[in-house]
Amino acid sequence: MLSLGAVVHDTDAVTAPEILTTEVASAVAALRLGGLVALPTETVYGLGADATNADAVARIYRVKGRPSHHPVIVHIIGADALAQWADVVPGYARRLADALWPGPLTLVLPRAEHVGTYLTGGADTVALRSPDHPLTQAVLRGFGGGVAAPSANRFGRVSPTTAQHVLAELGDRLDPGLDRILDGGPCPVGLESTIVDATGNQPRVLRPGAVSTKQIETLTGQVVLGPDGAVRAPGTLASHYAPTARVVLTEPEGVDDALAAIGDAAPIGIMALATTPLDDNRFVDGSAVALSRPDDVAGYARDLYGALRRADDDGLRVVLAVLPPDEGVGHAIRDRLQRAAHQLGAAT
Ligand code: TXA
Ligand code: MG
Repeated sequence: MLSLGAVVHDTDAVTAPEILTTEVASAVAALRLGGLVALPTETVYGLGADATNADAVARIYRVKGRPSHHPVIVHIIGADALAQWADVVPGYARRLADALWPGPLTLVLPRAEHVGTYLTGGADTVALRSPDHPLTQAVLRGFGGGVAAPSANRFGRVSPTTAQHVLAELGDRLDPGLDRILDGGPCPVGLESTIVDATGNQPRVLRPGAVSTKQIETLTGQVVLGPDGAVRAPGTLASHYAPTARVVLTEPEGVDDALAAIGDAAPIGIMALATTPLDDNRFVDGSAVALSRPDDVAGYARDLYGALRRADDDGLRVVLAVLPPDEGVGHAIRDRLQRAAHQLGAAT
């Protein structure tokens, strides 16, 4: 005879949200029917729709609660698909795509004439990326077209890095009869892609990510411009990527001063590289919670959004983030943490 515990567990299994799937065919079918499919990528989960279906793309905006002038990234299968979406592909952009795709790099290019402005926020450019995740590559191959996908979070929240995050964010806004969340496990990079504006003579980084400026310089042999200037990626305002908890930033040597300045807000969530010396008594006496203690910067990036989410789930009022060194993906982590600490706006 089953114990009550076993019965409850069994019922849970039967009523597990059918929207969650690991079946590529089910994701492809949903895209074909004009549904939304949350897709795993190496960076973060995206909320995808058939890029040629204006109604489906419009639903992405409604489900996210995102302003319509924010353009979306079109996900494609590889560099050879660039010509279908972009009008002009400068040599340096092709070199970056050849070297780094599939991978955490988005290229902004002049859009091909047929590319709907509902994808581009009305602009004459389109953002393109080839994601490095086996399930999503299989979906793109099976679907045979481009998939428009912003990060699968509600407007104003950090990007999801697991299928469970997507379910928590959007489960009540998706249609289980039509939409799907494709569970491909935790995202190995954990931060959104590096966005490179490739509409000019030189590459310009609009959003830092795991692909560093140095890599872009090495691969293109060109000086890479920073995000300042006329072109800006909407959704890269100073105040994006903020959780509810107050985020306080410090360099490793300033931890004690920062904790003193925070005062009484126990328990305080702490994120820091494992190499940062911290007084472990804080974790024992309960005045602090270790949200993330990664061994290296890649681990910091991977944990970052999950840790910020956990801070909110646990009702922490303050998170102290000890900044990683400002190089490589550390630069992108610092960028996101600065936005999280800014606290005025919302993430796209
Ligand atoms: O890693 C990523 O890039 C993830 C995964 C799902 O691919 N996607 C993602 O999408 O972060 P989203 O929509 O949350 O952020 C894309 C950023 C936005 O800031 C948007 O304004 C910018 O890309 N963007 C898109 N199209 C653009 C364009 N034509 N010109 C300038 N910026 C553009
Ligand atoms: Mg986003």
